Amino acid sequence: METDLFGNRRDEPLADGAMILRGFALDRDLVGLVAAIAHAAPFRQMLTPGGKKIGVEMTNCGPLGWISDRRGYRYETLDPLTGKAWPAMPQAFLALARQAAGHAGFADFTPDACLINRYAPGVKMGLHQDRDEAGFDAPIVSVSLGLPAVFQFGGLDRKDAVRRHELRHGDVVVWGGPARLAWHGILTLKPGAHPATGQTRINLTFRQAGQR
Ligand code: SIN
Ligand code: FE2
Repeated sequence: METDLFGNRRDEPLADGAMILRGFALDRDLVGLVAAIAHAAPFRQMLTPGGKKIGVEMTNCGPLGWISDRRGYRYETLDPLTGKAWPAMPQAFLALARQAAGHAGFADFTPDACLINRYAPGVKMGLHQDRDEAGFDAPIVSVSLGLPAVFQFGGLDRKDAVRRHELRHGDVVVWGGPARLAWHGILTLKPGAHPATGQTRINLTFRQAGQR
């Protein structure tokens, strides 16, 4: 965990209900757990409803998985690639997501979905809102691993100004409450190599996607 001169960990407020928890996910073997999940549910490029390939490669773990295809964006209990349930969410994922949400002021976060995004250099994720979930009471908890990326975080209106923040290995972003539907995205990933993930960036986003 990153600390300041006085040994306090650094939290960076982004907006009311949103903050970056620098280094909150360090010292946990999350990358090894991602590899095990991807062994059972491989990373793949999904199609947008318009039929375009999404640049970011994705897989999921937990009871629900986010998917996109010609029929739209939604959560499904089965992986369309394997026909099987998504791999279980590791306890270490659940614990981290819950601790991060609690630290940001959202008690009792119980994610039922973890979307795993893998970015290669040259890949980006355009500005969007996370709004395919059944409700918006629970926050989003987003964990960055591997290569650094520039995160854009704006307001509730697509036209609101966005600010840019570099996210590095082990950083966690939490947004919920009044910021739950904030627009956000990732700028084109720059080439590089990271000891934990090689020439990629991995992002875990925890959501409560189904009915509570
Ligand atoms: C997302 O918005 O689902 C991903 C954000 C990120 O990769 O940090
Ligand atoms: Fe998102």
